[in-house]
Amino acid sequence: MIYAKNGRFLLGGNGFSYAMFVDGQGFLQKLHFGGKIQPFDLDFLISGIGKIQEPPQDNPNREGYLDGMPSECPFWGRIDTCEPMITAVRSDGGVVSRFVYSSHRIYDGVPAVQGMPRARGGGQTLAVTLKDNFSPVEVTLNYTVWDELGVMVKNCEIANGGGDPIFLTRAFSFCCDFTDERFDVMRLWGDWGKERSPEISALAHGVTRLQSTRGVSSHQTNPFIALIKPNCSENIGECYGFQLVYSGSFALSAELGNKGQTRVIGGINDLNFRWKLDENERFVTPQAAICYSDEGLGGMSRAYADFIRAQIVNSKWVDARRPVLVNNWEATYFDFGNERLFPIVDEAARLGMDTFVLDDGWFGKRDDATSGLGDWFVNTNKLQGGLKPLIDRCKQRGLKFGLWFEPEMVSEDSDLFRAHPDWIIGKSGFEPVRQRTQLVLDFSRGEVVDYIFGAVSDVLKNNDIAYVKWDMNRYLSEFYSSALPADRQGELAHRYVLGVYRLAEMLTDAFPDVFFEGCASGGGRFDAGMLYYFPQIWTSDDTDGFERAKIQWGTSLCYPLSAMSCHVSACPNHQTGRVVPFSTRGNIASLGATGYELDLTKLSDEEKSQVAEQITEYKQIDGLVLQGDLYRLSSPFDSPFFCVAVVSKDKSRAYVVGERALTLPRDVNRIIRIYGLDDSKLYCVRELNLTASGAALKTAGLVAPKTGDFGSWTWHIEQVADRAGNKK
Ligand code: DGJ
Repeated sequence: MIYAKNGRFLLGGNGFSYAMFVDGQGFLQKLHFGGKIQPFDLDFLISGIGKIQEPPQDNPNREGYLDGMPSECPFWGRIDTCEPMITAVRSDGGVVSRFVYSSHRIYDGVPAVQGMPRARGGGQTLAVTLKDNFSPVEVTLNYTVWDELGVMVKNCEIANGGGDPIFLTRAFSFCCDFTDERFDVMRLWGDWGKERSPEISALAHGVTRLQSTRGVSSHQTNPFIALIKPNCSENIGECYGFQLVYSGSFALSAELGNKGQTRVIGGINDLNFRWKLDENERFVTPQAAICYSDEGLGGMSRAYADFIRAQIVNSKWVDARRPVLVNNWEATYFDFGNERLFPIVDEAARLGMDTFVLDDGWFGKRDDATSGLGDWFVNTNKLQGGLKPLIDRCKQRGLKFGLWFEPEMVSEDSDLFRAHPDWIIGKSGFEPVRQRTQLVLDFSRGEVVDYIFGAVSDVLKNNDIAYVKWDMNRYLSEFYSSALPADRQGELAHRYVLGVYRLAEMLTDAFPDVFFEGCASGGGRFDAGMLYYFPQIWTSDDTDGFERAKIQWGTSLCYPLSAMSCHVSACPNHQTGRVVPFSTRGNIASLGATGYELDLTKLSDEEKSQVAEQITEYKQIDGLVLQGDLYRLSSPFDSPFFCVAVVSKDKSRAYVVGERALTLPRDVNRIIRIYGLDDSKLYCVRELNLTASGAALKTAGLVAPKTGDFGSWTWHIEQVADRAGNKK
């Protein structure tokens, strides 16, 4: 719902309202973001909070008093000394702007954001255009809301209305100000193998900036930030989430100003960003997905999960059954031929899997990580007869076949590099940084993207491939393109991301029946941008059953379980060396799109029967896991227990997985309260053979079973009757 009258705007989604007004100076100010209010409340807001935001009427230098005004588009060089949203350098070197309201329009649907991931449709959009008093620059702020979603989407378009070129040195997607409220700030930090760890700290005065400068959204900082009221916990209290639908270098900052005001702002990272905008050109920023929850962090996560599933993930795949697969990477690494792969295929079929995925090493001259990237043709020394015999073997055993690519990369020891040494990012004559001995292709160049599209398409056209794993194993460096003029070098990082999106769009359009999984050295590019093209992403290279639980917990704060690809791997774990029971590895991997990543032929008979059982069990609950609502019940970050429940939308079923870290002497009974069920319904907990109401399961809880170190358990909960005794 969007209401607009006399320079007052009210937007509403599921459980929240967002209000703005145009003040006496023409500035667009925020009035409210939080619980639902009505259009008639706008008068009250303007006469109350709006008044204190207006400058004193009798002061001749009124704008000098506006520092701290909750601005929808803060600009540089005048009234507002906190972080600006847009800085545009003009031909005379001047940067000062003064953006005031010019016009607005409301329309059904979402803004056209070409060539980038975006909300897909429905809803209603308010577009407010502001013009600069000092230059021909115009900014259009887009706000899209959906009645049924607890998330709104914001972005902006910046136009050079005439005259000389301008250079955007900052073009953020959104700004959201709060007047005099105290918050804690939450981020998801990490590194390779330990992605997306939640960290909460008090928001101190000054700027708290989260960013990636690596060309990808990164393992280290996810493009997400949340402001949390001090009394907010998992199930109660208010919080605000801000998530970018973007996969490249980004910045998100929260600033506590000296007047007590808080500003959250962000978008494409402005470090080394300089975008030339010729006359009449527009720059469109990525979208930001903004969420308000008064049901704690859990409410925010569920709102984000619903939004990503409804608006970001391709509807063809969102509810599709995910294949239970085996991937050969940790089983063989680069050392394979059909003689090693066939037995894995055979075993996978016997154990009930659906798909075999051949990982790195099948192409070019690729026996280790030093060569071959870019040469997307089969290495027939390793795979005699090409992929066909292996694919035939899969088919004969009733399995589909999946294949790994790393489209954005090239090895110096490759035919592609020898033919096109200038196709890399970097300046010739300067020694490039090599990570994993590879270089990054310059995807800002159309011909490079087109070539890779052709090469990958040939493999997909000529083979029966149902699944593609798209990997990306290094960050960007040298940020220089031999195809861009000097005054456009600051565009490279964003143009690279646009090239990645273009290839992803072309491939997913050309092969609509192929299921794509994203990956970036584990979870180095786990963001809503990539989820637009790839319905699931390899969550982390760390598959240790204990560490993985933490990674999945953190990831679930703003992404749905259906986005997480989760595998059972061998022990001792290849990343941590830890030994975790097989059942625990299976239980943790069941909380997403499950699979296996180990040498099935080396499993004991006991383990094989566990795999078969895990798959049978998973196929009973996969719909619930992928489509249900997540309730996090016990945090592995501040207790020895990890426990989460996935509850079906109709609240008739729930699936609970718990894991204990290290056992302690004289451990007391640990109660886990089950949230998310219907208080008035009766449920049976299969494993405990007991019946209780949803209210009892929430308020009294269940006792966590005793397990050894890293032991785990599941509770399958089914509705049996309502309070009146009516069976369902
Ligand atoms: C990194 C990925 O995260 C792994 O799963 C595997 O595909 C390797 N790359 C292959 O090089």
